[in-house]
Amino acid sequence: IGRILVTGAASGIGAQLCRRLREQGNEVIALDLKPLAGGIACDLSDPASIRRAVKDIGGELGGIAHVAGLPGTFSPMKVAAVNTVALRQLTSQLVDRMNPGGSIVVVSSITAHRCPWTVAEIRAVLAQDDNAILARLGALSGPDAYAASKCLANNWAASLSEELLSRGVRVNVVSPGPVETPILRDFEQSMGAARLRAAADIVGRHGRPDEIAALIAFLLSSDAAWVNGVNIACDGGFSNARTIEAQ
Ligand code: NAI
Repeated sequence: IGRILVTGAASGIGAQLCRRLREQGNEVIALDLKPLAGGIACDLSDPASIRRAVKDIGGELGGIAHVAGLPGTFSPMKVAAVNTVALRQLTSQLVDRMNPGGSIVVVSSITAHRCPWTVAEIRAVLAQDDNAILARLGALSGPDAYAASKCLANNWAASLSEELLSRGVRVNVVSPGPVETPILRDFEQSMGAARLRAAADIVGRHGRPDEIAALIAFLLSSDAAWVNGVNIACDGGFSNARTIEAQ
């Protein structure tokens, strides 16, 4: 039970997460680009808007769920700003308000493995400042920018988990496969409907937003007190099936 910030709270996975966390008795601070009753309106692609939101959030936090994300149908710069740079900006401005036992969850994607960069390149990009990251991701195609933005998020979260060990704040990643939310229509455009259908054929269907929210809520809770620094695929077994196929 705690005070938990959820980004991307107006739709899909974020909306289901807010509902679930409130049912469990948590105080939820719902943040989204779309104004929400009682929530915080913030454009995560705009550093000034993030700074204003940080003021509005106020007080101590038990958890942060970075759920907001943009698909590869948006401009690569926007994708980079929301999916990667905003994570760093928001977290760095809020982490001092988190006490031991706090939990940060980053929603990534199983598509991160399609990142066109090597591990060394990813580390080099992450070592740069926000503007350089925006420029590097902004130079990619939409689908590559999406995959790379999520891959950078994974690597950033892994480093942060190590960095926050001394504070007792956990950081984990949830990587969904295709989930029935409005963003799925964008993925159909950017990745091709056939590829998404093929994924559903392997595991029987697409995921449901509440199935992803359930895992995020678990990772935010003290039930997951000994789970830290991991990236969990939540895809009905699709990644596993694909890996076995490739062997
Ligand atoms: P969604 O489109 O239903 O929700 C995304 C939310 O993020 C929306 O409420 C939107 O307003 C918010 N958002 C977008 N840009 C923003 C900005 N600049 N500032 C503040 N909020 C902004 O999509 P869904 O499925 O709930 O996505 C949640 C996360 O899950 C995303 O990070 C997405 O990349 C990831 N994901 C989703 C998959 C799917 O198939 N639905 C698959 C893999 C990952």
